[in-house]
Amino acid sequence: MPRERAWLVYDKWFKVYGDIVYFEVLGQGYLILGSSTRTSDLFEKRSGNYSDRVGMPMLIGLMGWDFNLVFMPYDPWWRRHRRTFHENFHAGMVHKYQPIQLRETHAFLRRLLVNPRNFMHHIRHAFAATIMDITYGIKVSGTDDPYISNAEEALQGISQAGIPGQFLVDLLPLLKYVPSWMPGANFKRKAAYWKKVNVDMLDKPFEHVKECIRQGTSSPSLVATYIEVSTVEGKYQAEEEAVIKGTAATAYAAGADTTVSAVQSFFLAMAMYPEIQRRGQAEIDSVVGPNRLPSFQDRQSLPYINAMVKETMRWQLVTPLGVGHMCSSDDEYDGYFIPKGTVVLGNIWSILHDPDMYPSPEEYMPERWLKDGQINPEVHDPTTAFGFGRRICPGRHLSDGSLYAMIALTLSVYNISPPMNDQGHPVHPQPEPTSGLLSYPVPFKCSIEPRSGAAEALINEEDSD
Ligand code: HEM
Repeated sequence: MPRERAWLVYDKWFKVYGDIVYFEVLGQGYLILGSSTRTSDLFEKRSGNYSDRVGMPMLIGLMGWDFNLVFMPYDPWWRRHRRTFHENFHAGMVHKYQPIQLRETHAFLRRLLVNPRNFMHHIRHAFAATIMDITYGIKVSGTDDPYISNAEEALQGISQAGIPGQFLVDLLPLLKYVPSWMPGANFKRKAAYWKKVNVDMLDKPFEHVKECIRQGTSSPSLVATYIEVSTVEGKYQAEEEAVIKGTAATAYAAGADTTVSAVQSFFLAMAMYPEIQRRGQAEIDSVVGPNRLPSFQDRQSLPYINAMVKETMRWQLVTPLGVGHMCSSDDEYDGYFIPKGTVVLGNIWSILHDPDMYPSPEEYMPERWLKDGQINPEVHDPTTAFGFGRRICPGRHLSDGSLYAMIALTLSVYNISPPMNDQGHPVHPQPEPTSGLLSYPVPFKCSIEPRSGAAEALINEEDSD
């Protein structure tokens, strides 16, 4: 089983064997789908049979990620979490969070001014702070917030153990009974450490909100709303608390780190493609002008920026292999027998890098989404980047808003360019994604400078709220 950038290996296999590939590792079947026809046939048209998740003894059993909607089996408990998640993050709801997104993006612009070299970290901080406010009403100001440090640590665990088969115990579940002190049981010691980090992530901010409610100092948030409503109506039960706690922590775990990768790729693209950057800035200058930052109301008048949002989602993928679905019952499809329990992965990378659909797929080209200056509905939308069928990412609307805010506000006030070497020549960064369930650009340098004195004044302006 390929471990490093598996999506590229599968993409090569598709060219040899066709767009559907099956293999087994120690008796576990894996089916990899390499085209939107295949993913639509199985994940959409047969969603009842392809919406389960594979049991991951390492991640769920040993590391304690069972509260996370992303990894739940397809059952009523998942449905209940999914409904709660949907109620809070559907397309008609996310506008509620726009003031938080704009405020945190503006705070990000200020941090960039103070320390532009740390941009990768500032991006991460901006999203963590956004989610903390939306879910718990916690306002994060400093850069060393304990909730954020803890979550970053927890997410390291997902990235390492989130792809089925990364740890042997996923293939041989009986290994979970091996005592931690035994030679070769390093995975158990790792799991015990991550479990503690996860429990802290689940409990600590939640308990903080409860305490604030008791003291009458809570801010509006997803968790506070549920706790208050439930208490008033007398329906507050342990089960309900588990759903809300899990939903909030999932939003944090699944949301705080994913869009980050997309924004980091956007910075990389800007350092690589100065002409495209200028085009985006020219559009903002003509629509928004120099005296204010872009808002969400401007969005429909900024087709080039919207094309950049789409292209950023397509170009370097946050989850190039998606998250594995599992087939619940034996199935027959297009002459193939697909056994129950097969892990089915849609290779998102292959679909969004299909040269027939996206010519020169390795290039960052927002123009591919436009026709006569407007978004061309005929180009296959990059929603595939958010997965498939009934398990499609329910945070995609929130993410889309955050990505828009980051791109529009950053371009309105900053120039991003490649760094200079000792001889004063630009060093051009290249895309180099990390492996893992979530992929990020490997750390790179770029120069980030305010576009003008007026831009600097806008960055320093206080928010009106
Ligand atoms: C660029 C940003 C993001 C990307 C690329 C992304 C991608 C994905 C993918 C590929 C899946 C798996 C879908 C499948 O199984 O087919 C997923 C699931 C999920 N995402 Fe996201 N996501 C992003 C942002 C977010 C945000 C901001 C949130 C929360 C606020 C979120 C919450 C979730 C949840 C809860 C699931 C699990 C859904 C389920 O299993 O039923 N995601 N995401």
